[in-house]
Amino acid sequence: MTTKAFVIGHPIAHSRSPLIHGTWLAEHGIDGTYEAIDVRPDALESFFERLRGGEFAGGNVTIPHKQAVFALCDSVDELARKIGAVNTLVARDGKVHGTNTDYLGFLGNLDAKAPGWSDRLDCALVLGAGGAARAVLVALQSRNIPIVLLNRTRETADRLASELGPEGFTVGTLENINASAPHAGLVVNTTSIGMHGTRFDQFDISLLRPGTLVTDIVYSPLETPLLADARARGLPTVDGLGMLLHQAVPGFAAWFGIQPVVTPDLRARIEATLDH
Ligand code: ATR
Repeated sequence: MTTKAFVIGHPIAHSRSPLIHGTWLAEHGIDGTYEAIDVRPDALESFFERLRGGEFAGGNVTIPHKQAVFALCDSVDELARKIGAVNTLVARDGKVHGTNTDYLGFLGNLDAKAPGWSDRLDCALVLGAGGAARAVLVALQSRNIPIVLLNRTRETADRLASELGPEGFTVGTLENINASAPHAGLVVNTTSIGMHGTRFDQFDISLLRPGTLVTDIVYSPLETPLLADARARGLPTVDGLGMLLHQAVPGFAAWFGIQPVVTPDLRARIEATLDH
């Protein structure tokens, strides 16, 4: 019997997940499908009934449903609760389990592109405290890495740190960026700065230690101004596209029973769909 999976969102046309999972299905010759389904918020509940009915093995959840599905899942794992979003559903025996694979995507990307990055890492400088920061922070916590969290709005960062920590967190505003820079072994941008060519105006990248790894979860453009500036100074950089690819791995494994690999060919296929 054909195993079916999906990504639900509204709108959903621009999701790259069908291309990612479709590539793996073809590569492994699996009798399966992965389709993008536009589900309006008022139709989410009835979609869950279809899911409990056994039509699908599971699927991904994207905007605007990542929070709404909490109430509809039969179980949700602890980390998804901490991250505050469910991005992956697994249906089994008439029940739906919700999880979040974004933090694994963040870790998988760095593990693949910068092996050993978290060994003896004394300080991660995380820029931004919005929704996207949460998976990054949970990922860093899972490796016991001390975090300096800087955000334009101090209160938002304070709230997030006290919710997720508070141990292991030092909080500040983006005005502290140059004071924090020399202490960081890793810099992660989780803000929307970097889209549309914008940069951290006040950030003096020359204050970073040689060897400090710089990464961005923005992947369009692939090389954000922050990554370009870091690379120009000879610092190692990892772009955000790998996080998107690696977050897809655990879902595929759960639905189709095979652990897929993020290959250069897969990356090239997705890269070809990005705006340049
Ligand atoms: P997401 O869910 O994608 O993380 P978000 O919750 O709106 O989106 O968060 C966006 C992040 O980018 C926030 O940390 C935001 O800072 P504030 O909390 O001060 O709003 C940050 N951000 C967005 N635009 C910014 C800008 N021009 N300068 C500095 N930070 C910015």
